[in-house]
Amino acid sequence: MPGKKDASSSACRWGKRSIRVWEKGDGPDYRSIFFDIQLDTQREGRSCGMCGIVGYIGTRKVVPILIEGLRRLEYRGYDSAGLVYEHGGRLVKYRAAGKLSNLEAEVDENIGVASHTGIGHTRWATHGAPTRDNAHPHSDCTGELVVVHNGIIENYGRLKKELEAKGHRFASQTDTEVLAHLIEEYLDDDLVTAVREALARVEGSYALGVLWAGDPDTLVAARNHSPLVMGVGEDACFIASDVPALLPYTRQVIFLDDRELAVLSRGSYTVMDVDDGAVLDKEVRTIDWNAAMAEKGGFKHFMLKEIYEQPQAILNTVSGRIVPDTGAVELPEIGLDDDAIRSIRRIALVACGTSWHAALVAKYWIEKWAGIPVEVDIASEFRYRRLLLGPDVLTISISQSGETADTLAGIRLAAELGSRVVTICNVVGSTMTREADGVIYTHAGPEIGVASTKAFTSQLAALFLLTLYLGQVRGTMDPATGKALATGLVGVATVIEEELPRMQEQIRVLIEDYYDARDFLFVGRGLNFPIALEGALKLKEISYIHAEGYAAGELKHGPIALIDRDMPVLALVPRDSVYQKTVSNVEEIKARQGRLVLIGTAGDEHLARLTDDVLYLPPVHEELNPLLYTIPAQLLSYEIANRRGCDVDQPRNLAKSVTVE
Ligand code: G6P
Repeated sequence: MPGKKDASSSACRWGKRSIRVWEKGDGPDYRSIFFDIQLDTQREGRSCGMCGIVGYIGTRKVVPILIEGLRRLEYRGYDSAGLVYEHGGRLVKYRAAGKLSNLEAEVDENIGVASHTGIGHTRWATHGAPTRDNAHPHSDCTGELVVVHNGIIENYGRLKKELEAKGHRFASQTDTEVLAHLIEEYLDDDLVTAVREALARVEGSYALGVLWAGDPDTLVAARNHSPLVMGVGEDACFIASDVPALLPYTRQVIFLDDRELAVLSRGSYTVMDVDDGAVLDKEVRTIDWNAAMAEKGGFKHFMLKEIYEQPQAILNTVSGRIVPDTGAVELPEIGLDDDAIRSIRRIALVACGTSWHAALVAKYWIEKWAGIPVEVDIASEFRYRRLLLGPDVLTISISQSGETADTLAGIRLAAELGSRVVTICNVVGSTMTREADGVIYTHAGPEIGVASTKAFTSQLAALFLLTLYLGQVRGTMDPATGKALATGLVGVATVIEEELPRMQEQIRVLIEDYYDARDFLFVGRGLNFPIALEGALKLKEISYIHAEGYAAGELKHGPIALIDRDMPVLALVPRDSVYQKTVSNVEEIKARQGRLVLIGTAGDEHLARLTDDVLYLPPVHEELNPLLYTIPAQLLSYEIANRRGCDVDQPRNLAKSVTVE
């Protein structure tokens, strides 16, 4: 694994944080580590954490390509946007606060300009207001050198002082602008050398695009801890923060690694090591996504389209991994042989957001069917606590993007401690997939809506397959049960497909009584407790209604005090092994005049006696309820957000890919 390093080293390669071993643990294989996190809190950066960058150099008109690329990256951030193109030896720059449409309006008259080189940016501000002045691209003193940047320059304060003392004048509060001036400082007539010299002074993370009017046939890009992919077409080269921006033009891509720099020109490119300038031979990979996959395809929102894509996403994830006759699961990509699997003593699941909810479900599955203790961590907690990991602990990261900063840091630490690392990921070639020992890809296709839907259910499908595989290899699950569960997994995709339109219709009517609620509770037990958490997260992120998810059995320990007519409760009540317990909790809510929305199993008339608002779902194998019961929770959030006129695909303050901690 790249970057695997002895934990006893005094400084971590990934950032300024120092790591030191402070204790030998409870066995020869265990090491505990302590993090000195002080340095992290001293960050000086003020920039865009998860922004999107795009660049083109070729023979086509550049502005429409930049706008289209930014549109496809807007999910990464939408506080402000900007672009610059070269025309007649000059750089022409446009920037606008707010959404991309504002930039489009600004650049409208010049959309067809005969320029063939440019870079663009869409910003998600971490520090520094999302104003026009702080929008990228940023320029040097002459305005002839411009930079777009995703990441954080941690030592920007010191560099800025130094540059100001040398007479550089700054026009924004961003760290990115320091890069432009620093490159200017080193620039004579060789842009590549100047960028390399500047980057040698820089601490922090970056995905970078640089243009200079003095050398308009060259676009320079570089990467360190922020994602960057190059596209290779005939007579053209591209850069982008993520693959969807490239899909209309090329599916041939090169994933840049940390501390790599690319020099792009019309139809040719060179990739080199930032530090020593050595030219690198990079693999060109073909992406099997197509441009239409990243389009709305007639749906009002990406989120709704992606909800409807779930049956296919689940099937794609399962496809080729279950032997039809026996129901046996094949997962060679996990990168562990049977002996290694049998020697696993514990599994650590690490993830953020919706992916963390998938991890919570997997804990129930793996412990039950594979008999392996599982701990589940939010990555931002995992990375800053004392970790007891060793070679017999399997660490699994779960991530749609494969770029989430905290999750990535988590697996790097786990690897340092000798743990094997597997990642469950949707984006081919993303950083996590390149650093893990094994990868189980979900095959959900590009997910554009900021609120994760199909990525979640395909993560559940992958985790269920993994559970079956572990149970099969370790002999904790008999083959007949394995086959029934594997068949059930395929079957649940069909059930979702058949039920989706009816569910949506019913929920669209039902939400008329709930869309103006101020608060909402979601409750469930067992496997459906994480789904209650996920339902609450979906609702709050896209409708801005305050929502909480609870284990139904926890209500009595506090939240029941909240119950009144203004606090609707959505309860997941399938006929499962904890059904009676959940129903009792629901009765307690009803006894306190709570307003109930119940989601349960078709034929369960008792639920209809508790409330008028019941949504019935067909019975599926109890273990697979999380996949099925997620769908109405997603639809409820979607319909409420849509009814409230919210920006469903780009909710305020959020970004899809959180590449800073
Ligand atoms: C962001 C997104 C969520 C996602 C989380 C983890 O918060 O808005 O939808 O669940 O990041 O992302 P990952 O790509 O690691 O699954």
